[in-house]
Amino acid sequence: MSTQDQTPQFLVLGAGVIGLTTALVLRQNYPSSRITILAKHFPGDRSIDYASPWAGANWCSMAHDNGPLEKYDEITFHKFEQISKEQPQAGIEKMGMWGIFDSPIEEAGILSEGTGKIWYEELVGGLRKLGENEGPKDKVFGLEFGGTWRINTQVYLAWLQAEVLSSNISLVRRPYNSLASALEDFPSATLLVNCTGLGSLHLTDVQDSSMYPTRGQTVLVAEPKTPIPRMYFRSPKRIDPETTYVFPRPLGGGVILGGSRQDGNWSEEVDMNLAKDIMERCCRVCPDLGKVEDLKVISHGVGLRPSRKGGPRIEIEKRKGWGIPVVHNYGHSGAGYQSSWGTAERAVELVKKALGTRAKL
Ligand SMILES: Cc1cc2nc3c(=O)[nH]c(=O)nc-3n(C[C@H](O)[C@H](O)[C@H](O)COP(=O)(O)OP(=O)(O)OC[C@H]3O[C@@H](n4cnc5c(N)ncnc54)[C@H](O)[C@@H]3O)c2cc1C
Ligand SMILES: *[C@@H]1O[C@H](CO)[C@@H](O)[C@H](O)[C@H]1NC(C)=O
Ligand SMILES: *[C@@H]1O[C@H](CO)[C@@H](O)[C@H](O)[C@H]1NC(C)=O
Ligand SMILES: *[C@@H]1O[C@H](CO)[C@@H](O)[C@H](O)[C@H]1NC(C)=O
Repeated sequence: MSTQDQTPQFLVLGAGVIGLTTALVLRQNYPSSRITILAKHFPGDRSIDYASPWAGANWCSMAHDNGPLEKYDEITFHKFEQISKEQPQAGIEKMGMWGIFDSPIEEAGILSEGTGKIWYEELVGGLRKLGENEGPKDKVFGLEFGGTWRINTQVYLAWLQAEVLSSNISLVRRPYNSLASALEDFPSATLLVNCTGLGSLHLTDVQDSSMYPTRGQTVLVAEPKTPIPRMYFRSPKRIDPETTYVFPRPLGGGVILGGSRQDGNWSEEVDMNLAKDIMERCCRVCPDLGKVEDLKVISHGVGLRPSRKGGPRIEIEKRKGWGIPVVHNYGHSGAGYQSSWGTAERAVELVKKALGTRAKL
């Protein structure tokens, strides 16, 4: 008897934004399956091994492949639109943004391969070129985004978890040091989805040597009495070690000031010199914040983006030792929120392929 004849039993390893979203998309596609999320960390936890709570976060695509990466972000943009309309308590709201660039547009890493255009211009409600007197005088160029998503990550992760629980998905808190040991605990599983982010380090079966951390530091400050009218982003390029951003979060989320992109750096210590530098950069780009000494610091954050050479890994792997197929969905680096629904849909397409469409019923 093949597993296709039975109710599928899915294991999702990881409860970051990727694991939770993937579990929800699995549920939509397999209404009567058994789904269990296994993870060391769940929403509410704060650990250097858990990237999701430390994100800014907003939707500002870094994809320019004129291919699947753009598609993941596009799907997610539309899904965020739907969530913000139907479930405003989820912590996602639209807002305008100024993107300030310190290099010519051809070098800014925002033009799509092949087309030479910014692929999301229409999606974000248009991109208007900022005038000489808008934004910092020393910029090379600037773009006003009509509207894109800002996410209160604390509220959104809790919302995802509540959705998961109300979808009859079980949660088990357990760290695993190999996939094989997870499979021993659940011998009747049909398929496992690997959403462990940087967690590769602790899985001894296979370590993906193309994974590395991209350290990011942030400062959470109080909301000024006069609301900040938009998000700000400033950098020479879309992906750059010195990247400055100001995201006023919705629903009491405060204002997140960032940031840094330090490849290969595992340090979880708050670097106070860097924090000071971040606050100075943010006050320069967003005068509505006032002076550095006026900022009311609530907390400092350090997170490690799960980066991967060659981009996220979303693929099926079958190995003799495991017995069941594994679908990987990890390595989203700094784009885990903005690509979450698109990559989860892709992962579930691969699940369907592995199980055959009959399992759907
Ligand atoms: C400062 C900063 C700013 C960011 N800004 C943005 C932004 O503006 N927009 C955006 O889209 N993204 C942003 N990101 C990126 C985003 O946070 C990540 O891409 C995303 O959180 C990755 O999610 P994940 O679920 O893959 O990993 P994680 O959140 O790290 O979750 C991994 C899960 O796997 C579990 N796990 C791992 N190994 C094991 C094991 N061996 N056994 C059991 N459980 C295990 C963990 O406990 C956890 O539950 C930012 C990140 C940082 C740090
Ligand atoms: C919830 O899932 C379990 C299996 O994991 C199943 O036995 C039970 O019937 C489900 N409950 C509902 C209300 O669907
Ligand atoms: C699971 O994902 C990690 C990356 O987080 C990867 O290094 C590892 O190889 C995967 N595990 C297995 C057993 O494939
Ligand atoms: C890692 O980042 C910290 C904090 O910014 C810094 O102090 C340290 O020098 C960095 N380490 C390396 C190896 O770059």
